Amino acid sequence: MRTDRNTNPDARVVDSVIRSRRAVRAFRPNPIARHVIDQILEVASCAPSNSNTQPWRVDVLAGPAKSALSDVLKQAHEENRHPPLTHMPEVLPEAMRRRQEAFGAAYYGVLGVPKHDVQQRARVTARNFDFFGAPVGLIFSIDSALTKFSWLDYGIFIQTVMVAAQAVGLDTCPQVSFARFQNVIAEHLALPANYEVVCGMSMGLSDCDSPVSRLETGREPVENFARFLGFDS
Ligand SMILES: Cc1cc2nc3c(=O)[nH]c(=O)nc-3n(C[C@H](O)[C@H](O)[C@H](O)COP(=O)(O)O)c2cc1C
Repeated sequence: MRTDRNTNPDARVVDSVIRSRRAVRAFRPNPIARHVIDQILEVASCAPSNSNTQPWRVDVLAGPAKSALSDVLKQAHEENRHPPLTHMPEVLPEAMRRRQEAFGAAYYGVLGVPKHDVQQRARVTARNFDFFGAPVGLIFSIDSALTKFSWLDYGIFIQTVMVAAQAVGLDTCPQVSFARFQNVIAEHLALPANYEVVCGMSMGLSDCDSPVSRLETGREPVENFARFLGFDS
């Protein structure tokens, strides 16, 4: 076992890929070849799942296919044709509410959008549906018969997609915003019956010059979320 992370070359590479991933919200339009995405998904399919059930299903969109989906979603967003997104409880536990608020302040802050400007905020949200200008958009869906433990599998898969992409210099943004438009997406992409959208993802090369690329998100130190019991040292 080579547990010294500073001298173990594998750990240094893995750590650096994981640490360098950011949710990127401004992309350059440079196209990405199909085989590059295919390889990322192949690596990600090594993710574990309960009883190896592999509950993932991915629609990978580029060019006119991506634009066509973006168009119907932007239209639906503009016409407010969607149920509210209930991906989190209305009242978050206090510590999480504070982090969510800090994130919102930082995000709208770098974009120069005032807190109570509902219209400008809606325009910012709409950028999700353009996949933030990325050349590739992914829509992740799951059989609705599955329960939260399969969604746990799915989360692991999605993180593995992002890490596999990061390893070849491709940036990503996971996007729950797409889940708001279940029916629009299911119909447009002709998803199998009973499938629901888990989330979307933008993938491509970051536009480092965009102000939104300056957004930094911090993390809690380990002692704030982990408890160690029974260790000698
Ligand atoms: C499941 C999931 C859904 C997300 N949905 C969105 C989204 O719809 N739009 C968006 O701009 N960012 C979205 N994010 C990105 C988070 O805001 C981001 O991961 C978080 O602020 C931490 O920042 P970092 O990823 O840059 O470290 C999502 C992240 C996750 C994990």
